Amino acid sequence: MIIAIDGPAASGKGTLGRRIAEILGYHYLDTGLLYRALARDLMAGDIDFDDETAVVCAARKLDVDGLGDPGLRAPGIGEAASIVAKNMHARNALLEFQREFAAQSPGAVLDGRDIGTIVCPEARVKIFVTASPEERARRRHLELEQSNSQLSFNDVLQDIERRDKRDRGRTVAPLVRSEDAHLLETTDLDIETALNAALAIIRDETGRSDL
Ligand code: DC
Repeated sequence: MIIAIDGPAASGKGTLGRRIAEILGYHYLDTGLLYRALARDLMAGDIDFDDETAVVCAARKLDVDGLGDPGLRAPGIGEAASIVAKNMHARNALLEFQREFAAQSPGAVLDGRDIGTIVCPEARVKIFVTASPEERARRRHLELEQSNSQLSFNDVLQDIERRDKRDRGRTVAPLVRSEDAHLLETTDLDIETALNAALAIIRDETGRSDL
């Protein structure tokens, strides 16, 4: 069974996805890390994000075992990932890995921007997580403060708004709620309440009474 969780930057979809996967005993993939790792590799190799051949080559060579690298979470990498994610060839090159990951037994939870629409349109449960830009910036800023970042709240808010606009406005696989996705609005919810709401959606959709 596949569970697709999509939403904008810092909406909490990663935390929800990981917790849901733990509870269900499923595999979990934060697909944003693929775009982040690709952006990091392209920048390290001084490769133009529009160089189709080189971008596809780097995407195919991506070290998917190294996605735990904490450096991938840096705000500059998120911005670069959002830019490379506009490239259709980069997206296509990452598609097969994501679909193979999703097909694993006993099931998988994937989070991103296009999981319910493009990567796994057949997903059994689709959840679209949102929160206001200000609340997302507040959460991200808090996280960054804990890692001694000097970024101000306004810097973080601007980064989020810029990425939202780019991720929603791109022509290929834009961030959009799939028609059959449940909307989970978390602006006024803490993480445990949001998790319970997501589990209730999964319970209703799958009939799993143990959740
Ligand atoms: O989820 P994240 O903030 O780590 O993602 C970083 C960028 O990667 C995001 O701004 C857009 C891109 N991305 C994407 O286009 N499609 C996905 N499925 C996941 C991320």
